[in-house]
Amino acid sequence: MTDKSSIAAGTLGGASVRTQQSAARGLWSSRWVFFLAATGSAVGLGNIWKFPYITGENGGGAFVLVYLGCILLIGIPLLMAEVMIGRRGRQNPDGAVARLAREAGANTKWRVAGWLGGLTGFLILSFYLVVAGWALSYIPTTLSGTFSGVGGDASGELFNGLLASPMRLIVCGTLVLAATMLIVGFGVRGGLERSLRFLMPGLFVLLLGLVGYAAVTGEFLQALAFLFVPDFSALTATSVLIALGHAFFTLSLGAGAMMVYGSYLPEGTSIAKTSVLVALADTVVALLAGMAIFPLVFGNGLEPGAGPGLIFVTLPIAFGQMPLGQVVGGLFFVMLVIAALTSAISLSEPSIAWMTERFGLSRLKAVLVSGGLLWVLSLGSVFSFNLWADYQLFGKTFFDSLDYLTTNWLMPLGGLMTVLFTGWVMKEQTVRDAIGIRHGGLFRAWWLLLRFGTPLAIVLVFLNLSGLI
Ligand code: PFF
Repeated sequence: MTDKSSIAAGTLGGASVRTQQSAARGLWSSRWVFFLAATGSAVGLGNIWKFPYITGENGGGAFVLVYLGCILLIGIPLLMAEVMIGRRGRQNPDGAVARLAREAGANTKWRVAGWLGGLTGFLILSFYLVVAGWALSYIPTTLSGTFSGVGGDASGELFNGLLASPMRLIVCGTLVLAATMLIVGFGVRGGLERSLRFLMPGLFVLLLGLVGYAAVTGEFLQALAFLFVPDFSALTATSVLIALGHAFFTLSLGAGAMMVYGSYLPEGTSIAKTSVLVALADTVVALLAGMAIFPLVFGNGLEPGAGPGLIFVTLPIAFGQMPLGQVVGGLFFVMLVIAALTSAISLSEPSIAWMTERFGLSRLKAVLVSGGLLWVLSLGSVFSFNLWADYQLFGKTFFDSLDYLTTNWLMPLGGLMTVLFTGWVMKEQTVRDAIGIRHGGLFRAWWLLLRFGTPLAIVLVFLNLSGLI
């Protein structure tokens, strides 16, 4: 019984001692499945919903450039470190970091880098499932032809109508939560592996088609200029923080997800190659989403900085006009929901693995406990758009505050601790063995980046925002 066994049964958790017993804990059935799972975690609402709207709010090109720089210099090195820690630690993030700290003869308090990630992922999931619920509710709305012939105003009204109804939001969010928990609890391989196999290529093709449609019918050149010609005067310290935070969000970093997925990775898979490919796929999907949406934004006289509703207002206009738009649109939102589900699964797995491994809870109990807590917490995000819209913390609603805090502060903070742990606490030889980069020069480049470049960049962004530099 190797690889497939326990993942097939949906029992990703379970106690283990590294390597020798990892078969009992369960591994991905192949490196291809790991690649799919990691890409499934990375590609989600972050790429299609969030990237376009924050790019719109932060002025376009210069923001995109900083974001790409963060992916390259911070995201990819950290992604490699997280997967490596997971694979060597063979436990939930908290346990894995503690085990590696012990191995290095260091203080096990470093485990905070692990559990903070799990907590951050949990908090993110509470609002993530609400947004996934928006996409879910758009499936029947699109299929029924509600959007046929709508313009910007009508589309905006339909979206606001959804936000104004706590009941609809709760029902849709609950369905997303239930689906996530069902997959995590009972059939990870069946659910995740199979849906990923057709989802990723399908989403890609559909996005390409939408880009083509937007290029023909919308203001394509204006959109390209907006996305790719940097205007640095539009960049503020907050925009830089948001770009950094989004690099974390989109690559699922600082939230335990990549660590826990790494903990199911068979030995021998190249962590470096896989990480680069995951980041590449993720970036391409985000840029395609931007190229599909902005031509429509400009073509329909909409505001690029319209906020979280951007894709839910713009895309339906296109679906309402194009031939077979009902079907194409319906399919698009189905894929968006599945993409969100594969990310939601990875957001919930660290805390569930933690409950089963640290406290010996059965997987079912862990799923019920975290599902219940998530449901209650998600109400805060639901009510941010209606009943509690006027209650603000630091000028933001509960939803916005949670997003801002987790994405822009907690994820980079968790990431900072992880790079410091890897680069300064773990022994160089241990890291060298664990990461498995055979090329000496490449290892050195990554090692230097991880020890100096990455932590420095994160600290500089934090200091810059606090007005200290
Ligand atoms: N990367 C996902 C997205 O872009 O939608 C969101 C996400 C998943 C964030 C998993 C964090 C995480 F651990």
